[in-house]
Amino acid sequence: MAVTPAPDADWWRSAVIYQVYVRSFADGDGDGTGDLAGVRARLPYLAGLGVDALWFTPWYLSPLVDGGYDVADYRTVDPAFGTVAEAEKLIAEATEHGLRTIIDIVPNHVSDQHAWFRAALAAGPGSPERELFHFRPGRGPHGELPPNDWPSQFSPTASTWTRVPDGEWYLHLFAPEQPDLNWAHPAVRREHEDVLRYWFERGVAGVRIDSAALLAKDPALPDFTEGVDPHPFVDRDELHDIYRSWRAVADEYDGVFVGEVWLPDPERFARYLRPDELHTAFNFAFLSCPWEPAALRASIASTLAEHAPVGAPATWVLCNHDVTRTVTRYGREDTGFDFATKEFGTPSDPALGTRRARAAALLSLALPGAAYLYQGEELGLPEADVPRDRLQDPMHFRSGGTDPGRDGCRIPLPWTAAEPYAGFGSHAEPWLPQPAGWAAHAADVQAADPASMLTLYHTALRLRRTGAGFGDGPLTWLPAADGVLAFVREPDLACVVNLAAEPCELPSHTRLLLASGPLDDRGRLPQDTAVWLRV
Ligand code: NOJ
Repeated sequence: MAVTPAPDADWWRSAVIYQVYVRSFADGDGDGTGDLAGVRARLPYLAGLGVDALWFTPWYLSPLVDGGYDVADYRTVDPAFGTVAEAEKLIAEATEHGLRTIIDIVPNHVSDQHAWFRAALAAGPGSPERELFHFRPGRGPHGELPPNDWPSQFSPTASTWTRVPDGEWYLHLFAPEQPDLNWAHPAVRREHEDVLRYWFERGVAGVRIDSAALLAKDPALPDFTEGVDPHPFVDRDELHDIYRSWRAVADEYDGVFVGEVWLPDPERFARYLRPDELHTAFNFAFLSCPWEPAALRASIASTLAEHAPVGAPATWVLCNHDVTRTVTRYGREDTGFDFATKEFGTPSDPALGTRRARAAALLSLALPGAAYLYQGEELGLPEADVPRDRLQDPMHFRSGGTDPGRDGCRIPLPWTAAEPYAGFGSHAEPWLPQPAGWAAHAADVQAADPASMLTLYHTALRLRRTGAGFGDGPLTWLPAADGVLAFVREPDLACVVNLAAEPCELPSHTRLLLASGPLDDRGRLPQDTAVWLRV
């Protein structure tokens, strides 16, 4: 039965948004790469799961050096994924299933195969084409040294400059195949506003903004000194004017934004969420937070405190396509996430991590605001060990091979246990190898198992959608023993999470809606378990 999304203009304040990493979601044409046909075939699964919207990682024409975050043409879908006509169909079919579509825009950089960059290379030094990027002569007697010492976003040891044959250098905060655009140039602003319109016209409901705090650069491109304020390329004041004009475009279409804003300072973060700027931004502080009661409580409290003055809803994120998968991270000794400390071979206890991830799911889905779910999180997928000779991620290569990279959280999904490649696509080997035992996590096996992660998400999302007390709104902490997080959402929903070794008593309640694991034989909540109650 077709269900169109609720017309509620404020849907995004309480939505559950499912992140589709297209390349690894489902392979519709059997070439080993996920595609739009694969997503279209699985829309009933996504609608049945009970999410409200889908965020698609970039599907545009791209050499896929950085998984599509190197865009060669925003108005073309990469043939590996489909066509623009098929994207339009997907958006329309998703709408019929009650699902809104959020696309991913990458404004900081383009692919080195983008027409603008090719033209800039061909036109040479001093040309107007080069002004769309950051081209500079080098330093040193022969210009043989990069123009400044900015650190790469992919690795502190990698360079952010590449020299072209005519001797000039160009800036790339990420890989050399991702030249940074010059956001001080009016044509760059015009083009992106036009791209926003292009996709809003095709029915998308929202836009995720990649690297949203990096676009503006100090025009003098000075060397970087740790702690310098303002930073030469992070969180510069000029950005707010850019996002105000984006907001005016979005408002014409009732479109919404979610910014990828990694910033340590909560006050600076909240400035992006003022009423005439972005609607929401990812809560990376919560994502990075260790599984520790005091740290989680502090993270939740500071999130709510920092969003309140600007009137924006919080978002709750446990993982995405850039970070270690939740069950693996929570099964480690260090349960926080930090790009700087990732290494190969960190041990993890999958049973412990899964128990905590189940509790974290109930915690994050009960908190005020919107929640994000990364494909495979609902299957409890672990981070995979990808054989070194199959790694693809530029983050791994830019680190000189020390960083394991992000391929381990991007493994093609297991759908049906009995089919080749666990049903990801039946004909060709997936673009990243699925590890041994992957089929055990398959969606079809889990759908039939009342104790599975998929069943937990299914039940939680149904309750969240149909019951009172979820989504945007106030939260009141309840008194609780050490190591226990307990709060109430109006009118009568309580969430209790026990992280302490000792089981805890449940507060008095009229109904137990859902538990992430069994209670003990005295009806108490064991360690690393969460419940939803009606009180
Ligand atoms: C953030 C994206 O999530 C990541 O995957 C990408 O590598 C960088 N931005 C560069 O676009």
